[in-house]
Amino acid sequence: MTGRLIFALMLALVASSLTPPPASAADGDSAAGKAVFQRTCENCHAAVIGVNKVGPSLWNVVDRKPAAVPDFAYSDAMKANKEPWTSTALDAYLADPRGDVHGVKMFFKGLPSPTDRANVIAYLQTLK
Ligand code: HEC
Repeated sequence: MTGRLIFALMLALVASSLTPPPASAADGDSAAGKAVFQRTCENCHAAVIGVNKVGPSLWNVVDRKPAAVPDFAYSDAMKANKEPWTSTALDAYLADPRGDVHGVKMFFKGLPSPTDRANVIAYLQTLK
């Protein structure tokens, strides 16, 4: 009985050491994130200040208030959203823009890969 328990514990330990920790924006790779941005966001978002496409410019978006680009027509839901775009908020938004209360206007299915999200957020942090 005890032997089985110890065996099970050892298995759990081995399994947990094999699973990499979840990616977080803190360790994102901004160069890889730039490629993700160009592939998935750039159709709708510019990385430079003052250029709005289907979506608002994402220049300096990290840590700013939502719906802050002056001449962009945001959805009411986005205007009502008061949570600043921290890397945590961005991660949740980009995982599921349509499911999240914020994202009604962004016709984009989101980035399912946590690594892609961490990388693109690291890239957004360079846009200042
Ligand atoms: C199909 C077009 C489209 C794509 C693709 C898209 N977006 Fe958006 N995005 C929008 C629109 C439209 C809005 C405004 C949403 C609203 O007002 O509800 C928006 C809003 C945002 C906001 C909030 C901006 C603010 O000023 O508050 C962020 C951040 C954002 N998008 C990031 C991204 C990132 C990062 C990607 C790529 C991984 C991406 N989006 C892909 C259209 C898009």
